[in-house]
Amino acid sequence: MTKKAELHYNGKIYELPLITGTENENAIDISRLRADTGLITLDKGFKNTGSTQSAITFLNGEEGILRYRGYSIEDLAEKASFLEVAFLLIYGELPTKSELDLFVEEITQHSLVHEDVKSILDGFPSKAHPMGVLSSLVSSLTAFYPKSLDPNRSKEEVNGTIIRAIAKLPTLAAWSYKNRMRQPIMYPKNELSYTANFMHMMFGLPTTEKKISTVVSKAIDKLLILHADHEQNCSASTVRIVGSSHASLYASVSAGIAALWGPLHGGANQAVIEMLEKIKADGGNVDKYVDKAKDKNDTFRLMGFGHRVYKNFDPRATIIKKAADDVLNELGINDPVLDIAKKLEKVALNDDYFKSRGLYPNVDFYSGIIYRALGIPTDMFTVMFALGRLPGWIAQWKEMRENKEPIGRPRQVYTGSNERKYISINRR
Ligand code: SDX
Repeated sequence: MTKKAELHYNGKIYELPLITGTENENAIDISRLRADTGLITLDKGFKNTGSTQSAITFLNGEEGILRYRGYSIEDLAEKASFLEVAFLLIYGELPTKSELDLFVEEITQHSLVHEDVKSILDGFPSKAHPMGVLSSLVSSLTAFYPKSLDPNRSKEEVNGTIIRAIAKLPTLAAWSYKNRMRQPIMYPKNELSYTANFMHMMFGLPTTEKKISTVVSKAIDKLLILHADHEQNCSASTVRIVGSSHASLYASVSAGIAALWGPLHGGANQAVIEMLEKIKADGGNVDKYVDKAKDKNDTFRLMGFGHRVYKNFDPRATIIKKAADDVLNELGINDPVLDIAKKLEKVALNDDYFKSRGLYPNVDFYSGIIYRALGIPTDMFTVMFALGRLPGWIAQWKEMRENKEPIGRPRQVYTGSNERKYISINRR
């Protein structure tokens, strides 16, 4: 028997069907609400509104649960490789060894980008933020692969577009960095793993896998896995809504990169380090900044704190905090900013303002400390987030396309002027 909710409105009772997910979450299906009642709903920021039904990622904000296709983030971060997790997110199952080998091989063979991308890159001034460069370069892939413009092509052709996106993003990301540094670009080396290849193209690191310390590539792999998907967050929703107009995967991912850039979303990892540096420069007085964050007349927010879904802890932050300690110990780095971060966390977590609002460190609070220890510049932190999130964006886009979801087009409540007559300019 279908469970229902009742809406009492204008002297009538309307029955609205309830939908229950595989983790027993319940939703009211309002697909017929306007047709049956003339009503729409209003929910700024979509805090209570589901945009889709998805089988990719499950979050439980109260219990701090995060699973990709049913596998816990703790298991995957510890035991899987990033491309293994990318395969899982995109195709729905963990790959067999032969499937993974083929997936890695295909990605390796497509890591080069067209030489003409360099002339696009040269058009950017060195002070261009790498996220803006990356979003543009990803969108430019439609020029080099015009067949990708049609997302309704065969399964094989769409999969080719998916493989190229995963293969070329590290190259484009590293080239965005080289543009920033006004250094010559580095080309991918097929003998290197995905993560080691990226570090090679960024820093021209030694060309053999073994010289790129396992701690460094394992730490980056873990970070990429932890960022790989997060259900209907701002940038994933952007990718889905852009893709719902039948725009190409590259155009949809380019839009996702733009959405991720914002400091309230993926841009927070850069903003956290800038905030911690500011506190350090100001004598390390964390209490002063905790008070500023609580002051409604002060626009200052504790970056890396708070989350729309997680209200007790962000399971990714727990893993990243430990990884930060491990990487800094392994590399023999004593970063005073890490000490400030831990002190800030301790003060905030014992403060009623934060506890009462469920404000805890999120994925962005500690990740920048690891990126910094690995020599990655601050304005490349969100590019690292994009590298990790790409498989999630692809999985969300693919699911939306395969489910033939309609174009996303929300309604509104109009609050502007009622009808009025035009007055000619000489009578105003
Ligand atoms: C990511 O959605 C995802 O899954 C995102 C993400 C992913 O993997 O895709 O997890 C990645 O984007 C993580 C979040 C990174 N952003 C930041 O760290 C920026 C700082 N945090 C925020 O601005 C904020 O917490 C958000 C944006 C993360 C969440 O904002 P919400 O859910 O809209 O909450 P809100 O702004 O309505 O805040 C609720 C209350 C308010 O106070 P009151 O009006 O109740 O008095 O909490 C306060 C806010 O003022 N508050 C903060 C705060 N975050 C919220 N106060 C001080 N410092 C903060 N960081």
